[in-house]
Amino acid sequence: MARRPIIAGNWKMNMGLEEANDFITMMVPLCEDSYAECVFCPPYIDIIRALEITSNSGIEIGAQNMHWEDAGAFTGEIAGKMLKDLGVTFVIIGHSERREHFAETDETVNKKTKKALEIGLTPIVCCGETLEQREAGDAKNVVVGQIEKDLADIDDVTKVVVAYEPIWAIGTGKTATNAQADEACGWVRETIAKMYGQDAADAVRIQYGGSVKPDNIVELMQEPNIDGALVGGASLTKDFEKIVNYDKY
Ligand code: 13P
Repeated sequence: MARRPIIAGNWKMNMGLEEANDFITMMVPLCEDSYAECVFCPPYIDIIRALEITSNSGIEIGAQNMHWEDAGAFTGEIAGKMLKDLGVTFVIIGHSERREHFAETDETVNKKTKKALEIGLTPIVCCGETLEQREAGDAKNVVVGQIEKDLADIDDVTKVVVAYEPIWAIGTGKTATNAQADEACGWVRETIAKMYGQDAADAVRIQYGGSVKPDNIVELMQEPNIDGALVGGASLTKDFEKIVNYDKY
């Protein structure tokens, strides 16, 4: 089954409303006809404007996190349902920065993933090992363990996007080699195949993330298990257009 490539920009905690407005306005004409599906994931406060600016383009808007309850006493949280009601279509779940700094666990990732699917948001579920774990020869165990827990008991796993992001490659300028990235995305696919069957695993889109730039995207995209990228730093600049349109350069 052909998997449409998907390139998503994770802005993290960058760009206030005016900056976001100007940046997306500049990027829409450059990205709207891309072969790859193109997703911008700005901070919450930018989302309404981002949806307005991209409304007549093929560009999708995602959030960087969500809560699994629809409403309630959860100070500071945003419900997945609130995002869905606005017109958001994607949500990043379990980014390593949330796991490291905000006590995200495989259990909460699983709850959020199930809820996202239930309400019709596409979750981009993140996994990946630390440098220590890789050097100890544990990378595969870590990634497989995360996927087994994060994607447990899901009705239709083909609707999930997985992002493999080795923590040592995030924001460091150090990209995994193409072979390392493809191997790890292969572990993800293999694990999904064991859980849900090969056909389902073959339909799941798996992104690589970690220092993706215009000069490494083309090679990464040639790898059989890599279906796209989750881009941090380079998604804040015009470089993102070159990554989204990697097939044209
Ligand atoms: P960088 O592209 O800045 O390494 O960030 C990757 C990332 O964490 C995307 O979610």
